[in-house]
Amino acid sequence: MSVSEKPLIDALTGKQPAALPIWLMRQAGRYLPEYRALRDRAGSFLDLCYTPALAAEVTLQPVRRFGMDGAILFSDILVLPHALGQSVKFVDGEGPVLDPIRTTDKLQTLRLDRVALTTAPVMETIRLVCQSLPSHCALIGFAGAPWTVATYMVEGGSSRAFETIRSLAYGDRPFIAALIDLLVAGTIKYLIDQVRAGAEIVQLFDTWAGVLPENEFRMWCIAPTKLIVAALRAEDPRVPIIGFPRGGGRQLERYVDETGVDAIGLDATVPLDHAKQLQQRTTVQGNLDPLLLRQGGTALTDEVNRITGVLGRRRFVFNLGHGIVPDTPPEHVAALVRQVREQGAG
Ligand code: CP3
Repeated sequence: MSVSEKPLIDALTGKQPAALPIWLMRQAGRYLPEYRALRDRAGSFLDLCYTPALAAEVTLQPVRRFGMDGAILFSDILVLPHALGQSVKFVDGEGPVLDPIRTTDKLQTLRLDRVALTTAPVMETIRLVCQSLPSHCALIGFAGAPWTVATYMVEGGSSRAFETIRSLAYGDRPFIAALIDLLVAGTIKYLIDQVRAGAEIVQLFDTWAGVLPENEFRMWCIAPTKLIVAALRAEDPRVPIIGFPRGGGRQLERYVDETGVDAIGLDATVPLDHAKQLQQRTTVQGNLDPLLLRQGGTALTDEVNRITGVLGRRRFVFNLGHGIVPDTPPEHVAALVRQVREQGAG
């Protein structure tokens, strides 16, 4: 098999990449001074997501500064509920605030046929990024997985215990099933549009998969993901799909086998021997603790050595176990990319 120009795509398709690929979740964002400067000019966070020239610029900022192998589209998983017609606001210092949806009546006010029009600027961002992407770098589109997006839609924002949605999943299962069905359909349309616009890889963020008990994990995490993967494959079988069921623990094998994803993102709690076992099945991505990246020093370099030592150069994408935290020194990110480059070269 010939090696492409893009190590990230090679790693995700089971080829031996020319070098160990690295990108970082939340690599664009507040830890970068150039992001903060641009963010101040953009108005609201959603305005930034829907302004192609600015969103494209923010997508490229970390790639220019650090030379990652992947550029993740600058947007947010809550763009989809917004595009469906739910009220979504990002309040400084508080996070997302949504007008909660907890009944079938309210669910019926959402409109799948609005998604394409409202998210058209996101597709324009993708086209703009494609024009200035370095040749070694691949563009990653993304969406939240249905369960994770549903938690924000039902709880009305970030949550600690997810009691409202989890109770509804037992007490009014038809409602949660209808919401998840709508999100499956919306996510499929939204991701197919991203692929048509030029996304070369897609990642599904299931940040809150880990709060689900076994049966619910199968119902609300695995089953919807499987439908999305099948629909994307039917559209374009060449686009690798990375699943990130954070906190999936011992259910990760089943997730890989049943959803058919091309790669699995691992959070920092996954032991490396488990990661190595998963690597027999698929490409693994992860799983450095973002707080260790913020900390820096020898503990960081030792841990990077340990991860790359165990997971090697094939079927492995270096990443964090979750997103970069805002007060991470950019120099630590530069040093990390350099270290992974040195270890994964040749
Ligand atoms: O660099 C990238 O990763 C690309 C852009 C991206 C953002 N959010 C930008 C963002 C991506 C891929 C996301 C995904 C996302 N958004 C997830 C899944 C991954 C994860 O981190 O668990 C989730 C759960 C969200 C929802 C979300 N968006 C929350 C809870 C918040 C508020 C918390 C916070 O960090 O402020 C956001 C806002 C957000 N999304 C910011 C950025 C850069 C910060 C907002 C700002 O700049 O004011």
